[in-house]
Amino acid sequence: MSQVVTYERQGQVGVISVNYPPVNALSHAVRSGLQDALKKGESDNDARVLLLVCEGRTFVAGADIREFGKPMQEPGLPDVIGKFESSTKTIVAAIHGTALGGGLELALGCDYRVALNSAKVGLPEVKLGLLPGAGGTQRLPRLTGAAKALEMITTGDFVDAVQAREYGIVDAVENGGDVKAVGLAYAEKVLGESKPKRPVRSLTDKVEADKNSSAFDEARAALRKRSPNLFAPFKCVDAVEAAFKLPFDEGMQRERELFMACMESPQRGGLVHAFFAEREVSKVPGLDKNTPVRDVNKVGIIGAGTMGGGIAMNFANVGIPVRLLEVKQEAIDRGLAVIRRNYENSAKKGRITTAQVEERMALIQPTLSYDDFADVDLVIEAVFEDMGIKKQIFGTLDKVCKPGAILASNTSTLDIDEIAESTSRPQDVVGMHFFSPANVMKLLENVRGAKTADDVKATVMTLAKRIKKVGVMVGNCHGFVGNRMLHQRGAEAVSLVNEGASPQQVDKVLTDLGYPMGQFAMSDLAGLDVGYRIRQERRKAGENIPESWTDKLAEQNRLGQKTQAGIYRYEEGSRKPIPDPEVDALIAQYRQEQGIESRAISDQEILERCMYVMINEGAKILEEGIATRSLEIDVIWIYGYGFPAYRGGPMFWADQVGLGEILARVKEFHKKTGGKQWEPSALLERLVAEGKKFGDL
Ligand code: 3HC
Repeated sequence: MSQVVTYERQGQVGVISVNYPPVNALSHAVRSGLQDALKKGESDNDARVLLLVCEGRTFVAGADIREFGKPMQEPGLPDVIGKFESSTKTIVAAIHGTALGGGLELALGCDYRVALNSAKVGLPEVKLGLLPGAGGTQRLPRLTGAAKALEMITTGDFVDAVQAREYGIVDAVENGGDVKAVGLAYAEKVLGESKPKRPVRSLTDKVEADKNSSAFDEARAALRKRSPNLFAPFKCVDAVEAAFKLPFDEGMQRERELFMACMESPQRGGLVHAFFAEREVSKVPGLDKNTPVRDVNKVGIIGAGTMGGGIAMNFANVGIPVRLLEVKQEAIDRGLAVIRRNYENSAKKGRITTAQVEERMALIQPTLSYDDFADVDLVIEAVFEDMGIKKQIFGTLDKVCKPGAILASNTSTLDIDEIAESTSRPQDVVGMHFFSPANVMKLLENVRGAKTADDVKATVMTLAKRIKKVGVMVGNCHGFVGNRMLHQRGAEAVSLVNEGASPQQVDKVLTDLGYPMGQFAMSDLAGLDVGYRIRQERRKAGENIPESWTDKLAEQNRLGQKTQAGIYRYEEGSRKPIPDPEVDALIAQYRQEQGIESRAISDQEILERCMYVMINEGAKILEEGIATRSLEIDVIWIYGYGFPAYRGGPMFWADQVGLGEILARVKEFHKKTGGKQWEPSALLERLVAEGKKFGDL
């Protein structure tokens, strides 16, 4: 028998234990081990009931995702689960940690399930572009009915043990304790009460009751609204519906066909890449994973505007006290009012309790004085993008903060090293670039300066996890990774409009690709003054940036959503961008002034220019070591800019399009325009010459 699954008997209970760290995923070794252990248990005459339990931090967390795309090695998971279900012996599963995907499906192949109250269960396959493919879509509804099964399978969200009992997924929940002891006690109870074998496939009440339910059509309608571009969620509904319309074995067959269709879909490839990329970015190349971290128990934030307020909420949400500094009382009052409103909205939606609103507000203490920063462990400066002001602030922090405090800037573009030089402790200075709205967006782009100490880098990466963000460590350059690429896309989008496209045409191409919003709608959301101010700073620094129609809009105080007019116009209380003839006229006037003859531009040209300019810049970012792996760029774009995860991120997407194809177009655009942004990246050229992809780096 394989080492990863063992069989032993304790009294009258035959115990099958899985031990395959880190998460007991159902690799080939585990599947065959389970099958062998089951055989042992079945032939052990002294075992009157069997118990399935896992060692380590969790119950089985699913199929082994690393095996996807490789030839399947027998035994397949549905067969193993089928053998558990049809076993001559009654089997109890004892769940701790998370029983997910194939793990929950395995538990559903057992007759009874007992869970620790800290456990969670779920079928998150849809998040990987899949559906539960080992009977989950057929067995879960037999326990929960249609609505709950559809909800769990189409969202992939976990439910906790108590909810799982309410839904009928587990039979009992026990408070704490050792999972094996809990499982043994439950198995003894099954024996003592002579509970019969109870295969889930034989349960018919719920499927009979919901046979003609409207839940399937409702689920499809909801998906068409929520995620029309996704493939797997719709297949999930089809598979669950089969549980109600077909006999069990035919339903299993249907599930298999739909599962294979998802497996072959490119969206599965993108989502699995995104899953591993998210986990890989936390391992920073060159930074020892045992690097000690500094204690962060109190945080100071400078600026109570949209950014500073959002950042403060992240810390308060996890119980870390914040000192929020502003220069004027009115600004503090305004900032705190916005934070309170955000919390109250969350409470209205039932996401937090009203008591939590007060607890969190109490953790955010306002101040007008830097003296209150004497005891903070970390300061995050979140004032607007002006190097002079930032240097002044960091000079002050250097004087007031205790030795060892981390001094971070939320700058989205400016030079961290230049900021660090305004202190006597550049080793303590780092960038922590949050994305707007900072209390919502999951990305934290941590920027290392030339002198940033390793323990500071390790601390900000750990802190990202603590405040439930995905932290990515990047190097220092103008705009770092995300905004440096965004600026190229933004400039290209403006050029496309200058040449004849409309803002809404450009935006539609991007939303068709799967972005939640296009370039121009996003500029309106961020505020046109932000880009305007950055361009002015760069002009001041001597860069030749010609005036564009977007500058004119900013100068007319059309700043975007906040003034109800920007590149689009907005109705009172609505965020829906509406094309504005006034803007069209302004653009037409601009073209005339510049002597540009407007031409029809194809959607394909828009796609290529907006995306390839980013890919070329991304390649330069890799070449310069600003990002060390292309997956860092992918994660930044997925979590910071809403790049569709099912496309795996821009660099993964580029690998699918083909780097040869992209380079050829980059060269053509370079020849046509001579623009620096189209100078082909040396790395891109090398990869194409070597027949490699970004993913091979
Ligand atoms: N297969 C292979 N490796 C897995 C895995 C899986 N199903 N789940 C997690 N891992 C790996 C991670 O890549 C990571 O590896 P690393 O240490 O080398 O980076 C390690 O396990 C720990 O994972 P996390 O860092 O995510 O640890 P957390 O404690 O934060 O989270 C978890 C644990 C909740 C289990 C989370 O990892 C998770 O959600 N995993 C995916 C669960 C899932 O999607 N299961 C369904 C799989 S598809 C399926 O079952 C198909 C079936 O229906 C046929």
